[in-house]
Amino acid sequence: MSPTVTQAILPIAGLGTRFLPWTKAVPKEMLPIGTRPIIALIVDECLEAGIRDICFVISKGKEVIPRYFRRDDALEKELSKRGKGDLLDELRKYDEVRFHVVYQEEQLGDGHAILQAEAWVESEEVAILFGDDLFVGGESGLRQLLRGYEETAGEGERAVLAVENVPRDRTNRYGIIDVAGNYADSKRLWRVKGLVEKPAPGRAPSTLGIVGRYLIPRSTFRMLRTTHSGTNDGEIRLIDALKGQLTSLPVFGYECEGKRLDTGTPEGYVDAAKHIWP
Ligand code: UTP
Repeated sequence: MSPTVTQAILPIAGLGTRFLPWTKAVPKEMLPIGTRPIIALIVDECLEAGIRDICFVISKGKEVIPRYFRRDDALEKELSKRGKGDLLDELRKYDEVRFHVVYQEEQLGDGHAILQAEAWVESEEVAILFGDDLFVGGESGLRQLLRGYEETAGEGERAVLAVENVPRDRTNRYGIIDVAGNYADSKRLWRVKGLVEKPAPGRAPSTLGIVGRYLIPRSTFRMLRTTHSGTNDGEIRLIDALKGQLTSLPVFGYECEGKRLDTGTPEGYVDAAKHIWP
């Protein structure tokens, strides 16, 4: 896999209002899929794609997330005494990962959350994984995205977004890309000429919706700093920053294969828990 993308930001500071009142006390990212929390499946997706440098952007009260990945010597000692070697392997999986935590003090949008990690980014590009989307069967979304990144290497600095062909009556739930055709002779890679946040079905320029995985260059952070969403709520969104870069930065959509599950709603979560039973 791509050796150039070595860092990932996981913005998981959102309030999770669709899961209230549960999220008053427990972050939705800690909901279990089998015996693992959702966030562990997302971290595992990073590891599987060769990324071992991970920054969580959390809000106050979500400290249980980084704690889940921290080594617990007392528990490991006890498990080893009881001969539970398989469980020990699962726990030690994260020993070689560099985890970092930053706070988003106010929920001012996903782009604002990503900005909190700017100082931590060392590489020229970084992967962004939102907390709700999971990929099952076949290749993960991140792995596919990295392939799209490699295929577009000749373009220099660029952004690649994971997209999926969504039903037209659901375009108002996604950021939708407006395409300028396929890239080279790839059937999965699209050149992006426009981005529209949650358009009504009749106004959507395509049915290709962005699904929670991005590879962005450093320059996107500069754009995020000067971007405010045009929706009057003052939020800073990643999609608006990328929209602002469209004239100066090649942006691509990579149409992911396989099944994606959206755990961001109670119904979606139930569906995901049924599909994935590790
Ligand atoms: P969502 O739009 O799904 O918001 O955020 P949410 O808070 O998670 O859930 P609802 O809509 O209130 O139920 C998409 C991603 O961006 C993060 C979220 O944690 C999620 O991973 N996010 C969003 C932040 O980190 N900070 C924000 O201010 C907003």
